[in-house]
Amino acid sequence: MTDPDEELRVSKIRSGTVIDHIAAGQALNVLAILDIDGSGGEEVSVGMNVPSDRLGRKDVLKVEGRELSQAEVDVLSLIAPAATINIVREFDVVEKARVERPTVVRGILSCPNANCISTAGEPVESRFEVLEEAVRCGYCDELIREDLADHIAAD
Ligand code: CTP
Ligand code: ZN
Repeated sequence: MTDPDEELRVSKIRSGTVIDHIAAGQALNVLAILDIDGSGGEEVSVGMNVPSDRLGRKDVLKVEGRELSQAEVDVLSLIAPAATINIVREFDVVEKARVERPTVVRGILSCPNANCISTAGEPVESRFEVLEEAVRCGYCDELIREDLADHIAAD
């Protein structure tokens, strides 16, 4: 068992979302998916390479006052497939869910093909089909095979 004191290195939150069991090294990529860079004033705690019974090492993110959209959860499931999303209200975990690999992800990612209709400044939301080893653009069939986090839309 992990010493409960280890958990207290990142203190408990009152209300918001704890994203637990993130693959070690992915915390900053998950923050990018959530479009959190500190400039929005969100209260965020980040634990990196924290000991975990299940994963050996894990990252954990605690975001006060924020619940995640399905689109955000879908993309984060691709880079943190073991993640657990905990909704916290008044210090209690009121909802806990493992992420599931979606078949399609909408928004969040941007197509690397500069000629793609989804990147041409048109009001077209990106859409990628999730394959075993890649995601495929629903508009131009471009594949993203690795470093998905490098293709998070800056908005
Ligand atoms: N947590 C928090 N603030 C709270 C309540 C919980 O930051 N007010 C965090 C805990 O530190 C933990 C996660 O939310 O990282 C899940 O909490 P809990 O379900 O109590 O822990 P476990 O039972 O260890 O979770 P699991 O079984 O998913 O590993
Ligand atoms: Zn495309």
